[in-house]
Amino acid sequence: MIKKTNNLMDKIVSLCKRRGFIFPGSEIYGGLTGFWDYGPLGVEFKRNIKNEWWKSVVQDRDDVVGCDAAIIMNPEVWKASGHVDSLTDPLVECKTCHIRIRADQGDDIKDHEAGHAKKKEKVSWTEPKKFNLLTEVFLGATEPKQKAYLRGEITQGVIVNFSNTVSSSRVKIPFGIAQIGKAFRNEITPGNFTFRSREFEQMELEYFIQPDEKEGESVFKYWKEERLRWYVSLGIRREHLRFHEHTPAERAHYARFAEDIEYDSPFGWKEFEGIHHRGDWDLSRHKVSYKDPDTGKEYTPWIIETSGGVDRAALFFLIDAYSEDGDRMVLRLNPKLAPYKAAVFPLLANKPELVKSARKIYEDLRKHLMVAWDDRGNIGKRYYSQDEIGTPYCITVDFESLEGNDVTVRDRDTAKQERVKIAELREYIVKRVYGEQ
Ligand code: GAP
Repeated sequence: MIKKTNNLMDKIVSLCKRRGFIFPGSEIYGGLTGFWDYGPLGVEFKRNIKNEWWKSVVQDRDDVVGCDAAIIMNPEVWKASGHVDSLTDPLVECKTCHIRIRADQGDDIKDHEAGHAKKKEKVSWTEPKKFNLLTEVFLGATEPKQKAYLRGEITQGVIVNFSNTVSSSRVKIPFGIAQIGKAFRNEITPGNFTFRSREFEQMELEYFIQPDEKEGESVFKYWKEERLRWYVSLGIRREHLRFHEHTPAERAHYARFAEDIEYDSPFGWKEFEGIHHRGDWDLSRHKVSYKDPDTGKEYTPWIIETSGGVDRAALFFLIDAYSEDGDRMVLRLNPKLAPYKAAVFPLLANKPELVKSARKIYEDLRKHLMVAWDDRGNIGKRYYSQDEIGTPYCITVDFESLEGNDVTVRDRDTAKQERVKIAELREYIVKRVYGEQ
């Protein structure tokens, strides 16, 4: 394990670019602050995170169904939800250099003042102003164009489909609706790589319950523990996570109560995921209620929400998995999250019989798993290259394979090798990556 410093962030950013996880958005035009693109490995990694989340929150449960709502909604939604008035951050401007900064980000303010102090300049700030984070878009071909918003949280798409979901499926309270999708915020100070971006992806669960204080407390407790357990089950070290209860000043306008799961990142303890008790805020603002099919009682349900960032999860999983072993860099990702589950090599690229056999193994495996092919350089270099991107198993076809119908499988974490029969290879890898099926 390596010490967490900003040096680690530099290594992560450089690895992401070099190996095709994450690139600066629109880079050939000089980039655009707060926007990032995921490359060949990043897209696989992010998809694996989302699949694992969906499996744990929807597929493995009886009480949660899914939704995929439009990004652009009728702008009335955002007025009713309170985001037009309240999705704001406090903004101050430095009177010396006119840079604008979030007034509630103490470290940014201190860093800025320190920069001026070095030049023997004094800093004074304007009074904080509320800055709305919703991103406006304009629709239609004729003037005046219709003003709408890119969604500032994915939540509202679920809320406005509450009644449609109840009437079209067999759900009964308590139940949840899960969604994964892009959200957009015109952040004043995007930064720390993808940590605070202007376009990002969220994975959210809105869990609907009866309006009851005790029930609210116990469902909130259940989901915050469950979400923390999920991160730990996929490899984040427990000691790198903690809960942070929001003070009334920190709470979003819709929250009766909120706690964050925070991560001990190289740039301090930072919000990973928010767990919010939204009470009846949303459904009552949209004038939506629920009729209990058994009792006929009508009421406005309460919502307990878990809201995680996919990009933050990707970044923190990468940071937590990064390790150096001498000059060997190993990304100890949980195999379920690794972009490739295995890599297949012929021992020598200039021996057609080895290439043919390795190619057959690769083509059989890739019907079931994401698998890499590599026949460049020597075996040692190929191992290093796969370790660096977190591939848990490397499979080498050598001359013995042609006689014995077996291959060498090398484990990323232990660097130990074992011989495995080609006929049993798929089951061997699947079991180790996903557990008993
Ligand atoms: N629906 C509730 C909601 O949106 P939030 O705490 O504002 O709550 C939830 O956001 C999660 O979305 C955060 O914990 C974080 O993981 C992610 N997130 C929020 N803003 C982000 C940004 N600017 N860049 C990347 N991820 C962000």
